[in-house]
Parts: sequence; C-alpha cells; structure tokens
Amino acid sequence: MKYKIKKFFIQFKGFSKKKIEGIDSICRMPYLNKMDQFASELPIHKYKDQILQLICENPIVMITGEPGSGKTTQIPQYLLESSDLPRILKSSKLKIAITQPRRVAAIAMARRVSYERKCGLGKEVGYSIRFEDCTSSKTQIKYMTDGVLLREALQDNQLSRYSVVILDEAHERSLDTDILLGLLKQVVQLRKDFRLVVTSATLDIELFQNYLGNCPLIQIEGRQYEVEVLHSAVKSDLRVEFAVNAAIRIHLHEGLGDVLVFLTGSEECEKACRVCFDTLQKLVAKGKPVPSMMILPLYGAMPSEEQSKVFKPCPEDTRKVIFSTNIAETSLTINGIGFVIDCGYIKQKAYNPRTGLDALMVTPISKQQAKQRAGRAGRTQEGKCFRLYSESFFEEQMAESAVAEIKRVNLSSTILTLKALDIRDVINFGFIEPPDHEALLMAHKQLFLIGALDEDGSITELGRSLASLPLEPTYSRCLIASLIFKSYSEMLSLVAMLSTENIWQNVPKMDLENTENAKQAQLQFIDKSGDHVTYLKVFDSWRDNEYSEAWCYENFINARALRQARDIRGQLKTMIKNFRISGLPEEKLYNELMEKKALSSDSSIRLRLALCFGFYMNAARAVSYGQEGSYLSVSDGTMLHVDKQSSISILGKYPPWIIYTHLSGSTLSHGSLKVLSKIRSEWIEDLTPKLSQANLERLVGLQKQKRPREPSINEEKEAEDPAIKVNQARERY
Ligand code: CDP
Ligand code: MG
Repeated sequence: MKYKIKKFFIQFKGFSKKKIEGIDSICRMPYLNKMDQFASELPIHKYKDQILQLICENPIVMITGEPGSGKTTQIPQYLLESSDLPRILKSSKLKIAITQPRRVAAIAMARRVSYERKCGLGKEVGYSIRFEDCTSSKTQIKYMTDGVLLREALQDNQLSRYSVVILDEAHERSLDTDILLGLLKQVVQLRKDFRLVVTSATLDIELFQNYLGNCPLIQIEGRQYEVEVLHSAVKSDLRVEFAVNAAIRIHLHEGLGDVLVFLTGSEECEKACRVCFDTLQKLVAKGKPVPSMMILPLYGAMPSEEQSKVFKPCPEDTRKVIFSTNIAETSLTINGIGFVIDCGYIKQKAYNPRTGLDALMVTPISKQQAKQRAGRAGRTQEGKCFRLYSESFFEEQMAESAVAEIKRVNLSSTILTLKALDIRDVINFGFIEPPDHEALLMAHKQLFLIGALDEDGSITELGRSLASLPLEPTYSRCLIASLIFKSYSEMLSLVAMLSTENIWQNVPKMDLENTENAKQAQLQFIDKSGDHVTYLKVFDSWRDNEYSEAWCYENFINARALRQARDIRGQLKTMIKNFRISGLPEEKLYNELMEKKALSSDSSIRLRLALCFGFYMNAARAVSYGQEGSYLSVSDGTMLHVDKQSSISILGKYPPWIIYTHLSGSTLSHGSLKVLSKIRSEWIEDLTPKLSQANLERLVGLQKQKRPREPSINEEKEAEDPAIKVNQARERY
C-alpha cells in the first residue's frame, strides 16, 4: 500500500484566466542583469560609505534596520569592495564570517550572494553549517551558523583566520550568538587587525550598544507601508484549517500581493499545503472560478534547493502562498508579500529543569514578534495582516518581548564549550544577559555526571573530547562508551537518527486507512527492547534497501529524516575515529560482564549498555502496583508515563527498568516518555551513586569565592582620602 508522496510545493492550476493585478515586477526576484539595480535600490545602499568608514575606524560597529533592508546580503560585499580595509587590517585577502542563528538562512544568503556576485557557491562565497561545509580555500565571504563559529573558536580562540566577523540577527538572542558576543568582545581587545560588526532588526538597540561599550551605531531608515491589522480569535488546535481558509479568502477576494502564513512547525506547514490544495480542488469541483496558486512550505529542515523556491518568481497570473515557520519573521525576506496571516504561536525549545532535557513547546509569540510579522506585509506595498487571535489575547497573553534562548534551554553544551575555551569562571563570563542560576547549576551537574567536569568544575580530558564533537554532550558520551562496548557503528547510526526530525511519516488522523497501514508498517521494525534498537533497525533496513526513497514511502518512513541521518552519520564517522581515552568507568563494567560471560554478541545489549553512560540520569523504574507504563525517575523521583507511540507501549510489555532520551509534555512537571529502551539495573548501579555526589556550589566554583567583607570605618575614610591611599600603595610596593 502506497502513501501519497509528499511534494514540497504544489502548483494549483487555476481554471480561470483571471489575472491577479498589481504585483510589481521589481518586487519579484530580479534576474542577473537587473541585480546591480536591485542592490542599489535597497535601503542600505545610501549608507555604504558611512558603513565602510565607521568599520575602518572602529573595532566594533552596530548596524540596525528593518528586515529586508539589505544588511545580510550587502554588508559583506561592501567590505570586500573596500580598498582601505585590507590595508588597515593588514590582510591582502579579507576573510569575512557572517553568522546566522538558523541554518536555512545561512544557506539561502550564501546562495543569494554567490548569485549576486556571479560566482559559484562554495567559491568566493560559501556557507558552513553543522554537518555540511560548502567552502573552499578561495572563500572570502562565509555564511555560517553561530554554532559553527563557536566550534571554530574551540580550535582557534582568537578566530585568527577572519578579519571581520559579522554577528547577524543579534536581536534573535540565540544562545550561540549571545556567547559569541561575549567571546568576540574579548577578541577585539586582543587583535588590532580585527573588526566586529553586530547587526540586528530595530529591537533592543540600547541593550546591545551598552553591552558593546557604546560603539558607533548606524540605523538604516527604510520605507514601511501601512499595514491594516485585523483580529479574529480561532481555536488554537484548528489553526491550520483557519489559516488555510483565510489564505483562500484572500486569494479569491483581495487584489495585490502574495500571502505569507506563520504557523508553528514543519508538520503544520506541510499539512496546510495539503489542506489548501484539497480545498481549492473542491471549490473547482463545485464550479467556482479559482485563479492559480503556488503553494509552498518553508521551514528549517527542508532541503536547501526546496527552500530556494520561495524566492523564485511565479507566473504573473499566479499568487504565491507560503506556509512558514518563524524563519520568515526576520531571517528571510520574501519579496512581494501583501498579506500576512499570523497564528500567534511559535514552537521553540524549552528546558525542563527537573529532567535536564529540552522539549519543543508551542507557546504564544511576544507583542514585538507579532508586530514584526505584521510588518512583513508592508515592505513593498500597503498590506493587511490577519491575526488568528483576539485583541485581548494580544494585550493580555503576549509578553512584551521574547525570552532569550539563554533563559530557556539546557546549557550543558554551552558551559562545556566555555570550559573548553579555558573560561573557568563561567558564572562571571559577562553574558549580555546572564542565564538563570538554576539552569547553570543543572548544566554543571549534567556535565559532572557524564564525567566531562570533575568535582571542582574543571574540564576533564573526556570533557575536552566531548566538546570537540558537534553534538549534545550526552550523545557524544554515548558514542565514546560505544567504543568500549564495541557497538560503535550502531551507536553512530542511532545518534544520527536521534539528531533528526521524527522518523515516522505523519499521516493525517482523519485518514483512517493509512493510519492503520502506517501502524502495520511500524510493527515490522519494532524491537522488544524499545525504541533505540527499533530506530537502528529502520536505518539498517533502509541501508539494505540501498537507501531507496520508494522503500521509505512504502514503509511510512520520513525519507527526509533518514537522508539527514545518513549525512550526519557520515560526518560523525570521520570526527571520532581517533578517540582513545583510558580509565573510563565503562571499561570496568565491560570487563566484569566479559568475565561473567554475560555480554553476548547481541548488538542490542551492547548498544543499550553504551546508552547508559550518557543517559543514566534518565533511568527510571516501573511503579510497582497496577500502573502499567508509569515510571519513577531515579534522579528525582518524578513520575513519568510512556507515550502511546513508543515501541514498548505498542507491544504492551513494560520492563522494570528503562532509560529515555526524549521526553515531551505540555506542562513542565508531567513528562511523557517518547524514546526509551529497556535496561538492567545492574548496568547503572555503579553510576547512580554519582547522582547524589554532586556538590553544586563546589562545581560552579561558588565555594571558593569569599563573601566581600564589610569595610571598617577607618578603611572607608582611607578610601576617600587619596593621600592615604597613595602612601599605602607605596608601602605595599
Ligand atoms: O538582512 P536584511 O533583512 O536587512 O536584508 P537581506 O536579507 O540582505 O535582503 C535584502 C533583499 O534581498 C530583500 O529584498 C530580499 O528579499 C532579497 N533576497 C532575495 O531575493 N533572495 C534571497 N535568497 C535573499 C535575499
Ligand atoms: Mg538579515
């Protein structure tokens, strides 16, 4: 039984020849010969000389402007065209790094700029994102995610290969950009041949300027047309249907402009595309004249060639409707948008301090974000924004501005990076906005538990190895353990599979037949030990079927997730080959099990043993009486429930001990276990005592700092009298 192949875009061919008027051809992406004209019409163009002059004269410059004014695509090109900058920075061939919080934006911008400069991607202009490097020795403008630049800083903490770093989208306050801000402030002090440019939308300017020592600021003025905002409250679980209806109403009854719809995640965007196409077809079947429509999704995990379609012009008599996640809020500007539909929500990572894990949660956006979204309709013409929420929701439920990532997510990876950069006193790092103390403590604790930090909070040899891998430290820890348990190849596949999106194909709930077919297909892979080995079986079967796409569709597997997993696996394989660390606790367990002949050649056991060394704090034991599928966490006794979709739920056999790697939940206190496996309690019995050994104060270094003593009256007097001070200083000297 075949499931309909998902398409990334759907061209709805209208039956009427009605032309949609008014989309100015300049708004469409221009062709190459019009490129110079296009660039010179961008709001930033007038500021070119001022920008170059300020960057030549100052170590740090801040540039703000509305999205679409040309900051990301033009500033690096201006720098390359400057005749003074190479002399001032003593580099005949400037290398410019420009960071983006999102991988999609890094790729899209590199593509665009290589097109503008008529050079192939990966030559003069390239990009580098986690697990993918498209640069060469010729690359001078390198778009990269902030995470990749942070990782490069581990190898070279002065980033000496770059003359200029542009931290773009700083207003997004992504965790890695926040950390880079702190690090680069230090680089500026050390290197006279270096320039830092910080760019942002017109938000929180004062906060940044103060943090950056009142550096010079250029504010790009751009024209913003009027946007009419209309509110209409809808049920949040029906937002996709309402958004589609609103888009179709616009299509049928409004004039100018393409439509940009903000939804929360990739699944919603794809669902909206399907529902939109089906609804249009039904209208046509009823004899309604419907003009043509190009329906496109836009989200982070899409392949880059597919993403670039949103920028391409579509035929004059066709309206473009884009169902997008938050990416189109400020990172990507699509020309010709006349209408915005805003669902009012965002899917983002949120940290559960009790479990130490991040979960994706759907939460209301902030007022600032709602305004940004509406503004997208008024860039090139007067526009309209349809908000799928009431005015009182906007006033009462939405915070003024978004909470920065550093306040929301698990900080283990960040703390480990800072420690690997030899920043010992992480608490006093000088963050633009310090993280919550509780989150800092938890991150230190997690790192201590996996052996990345010792009890004084110093990074260990193992910690340095973990920091060098582009993964969450817990996953890296499992990989290292798998070297001992000789399940390395399996763990590579598993970690790669866990690093992608959901591997199961989403089937609409209403489609009962395919829901049943999907369940049957899933059953073939299910392993009684749990989800991890199940994932591995899926990956191995796909490999045995020569990585066939058709096989994925037949088996209701998300082909895109598997392709990603294969790429990630390939990258990791080359990174970890040379790791050899001695004296790890898994060696002892391995030897014991070998002596007892308790370690079979079964790769399932070896894999789950290795998993314990990264995740033993996520072990849980079954509640003894009557409650099937309920577990108590070993670390803090939280009650957890197994998700219905997990392998052991499907088989209905709940083991006494499990370990989990993914947890979800709409509230922070109730966890639903998504990805888990059976373990044996003796595998973790040597590890769990460490759970109560962590002395948090000692770990974060608070114990060593003495409280400031209150000065005596005499001392206060001395401090006020400069003569006494000088004398005392002489004496000490
Ligand atoms: O960074 P900022 O938001 O200020 O603007 P930008 O990303 O440099 O975009 C400048 C212009 O280039 C906008 O009109 C974008 O629509 C256009 N652009 C495009 O057509 N295709 C891309 N892949 C990237 C930008
Ligand atoms: Mg930009």
